[in-house]
Amino acid sequence: MTTILVIGSGAMGRQIGMAAAVAGFTTTVRDVDPGAVTAAETDMRGWLDGRVAKGRLSAEQAADAGGRIRFTTELEEPAAHADLVIEAATEKLDVKRAIFTDLDRLTPDHAILATNSSTLGSSAVADATGRPDRVCNLHFFNPALVMRAVENVRNEHTSDETVATVSAVVRALGKSPVLLTREVPGFVANRLLAAVRNEALELYADGVASFEDIDVAARDALGHPMGPFELMDLVGIDVSYLIRQAAFEQSGDPQDLPHPLVTAKYEAGEYGRKTGKGWYDHD
Ligand code: CAA
Repeated sequence: MTTILVIGSGAMGRQIGMAAAVAGFTTTVRDVDPGAVTAAETDMRGWLDGRVAKGRLSAEQAADAGGRIRFTTELEEPAAHADLVIEAATEKLDVKRAIFTDLDRLTPDHAILATNSSTLGSSAVADATGRPDRVCNLHFFNPALVMRAVENVRNEHTSDETVATVSAVVRALGKSPVLLTREVPGFVANRLLAAVRNEALELYADGVASFEDIDVAARDALGHPMGPFELMDLVGIDVSYLIRQAAFEQSGDPQDLPHPLVTAKYEAGEYGRKTGKGWYDHD
């Protein structure tokens, strides 16, 4: 495994790609949208400069990592050389299935096709390929250049060899694999997160404390790096909403629906940092 192709250059795809390049993999980040490709490349080259300025990477290490990564709209050529593909495109099943069908056609037989989806198990796309044993979830966390765990979720066809290979890649990225033996909605980390978030939303909705103070409690009483409301703003309230909506669609259980306060923010277009306003103002 030396060559990684990341599909999608959004907040997750670009950072997964850069993490791979820094770790020594030859990496391509591909997006259908030329504007998104340029924005991702500018952001990530700026990140490399920032690492050098902060003394976290030497100028040589940054130049090497920068030389190992490219950002492009091309698919066929990078797919033909990929050992591992990490799909981080939009969370829409029909889009992902079309991507996996194309990847199955364009990548070498040995290539592993992984999805970064947090809501769809890879079984939802594995049957769009002729290699379901080499398909799994590799679920990174935001910001992917910083967060060290990656959930490796098998579907019923994923082979032991695939699990072992992607776990080795995750370790080579300097991260810790979390192996899930089967697909469950929310996987592990988002279920833990949801439990905290639900309590936080209920406490705020009941008027027990302000959302700012609930964040203070999470940070300064429990040692969380961020409070649950700050974290929703970082990850995106739209993402939180869509994850719960997808969970409800899978389970049919009204308890899985997004909290009404999250729905209200979602409908108001207040998604957090990405729109300048969520729970907090980010101007
Ligand atoms: N991109 C890249 N690097 C970043 C970053 C970003 N967006 N934000 C912070 N960093 C880096 C900084 O450069 C800094 O690196 P160095 O120490 O090496 O210089 C380091 O992270 C710490 O940053 P700061 O000092 O600026 O701020 P901080 O100490 O408050 O950390 C944080 C920021 C890393 C985001 C931290 O608050 C944190 O860990 N928050 C929790 C994040 C979390 O829970 N993520 C999971 C979300 S759930 C998810 O992603 C799953 C899903 O399916 C949606």
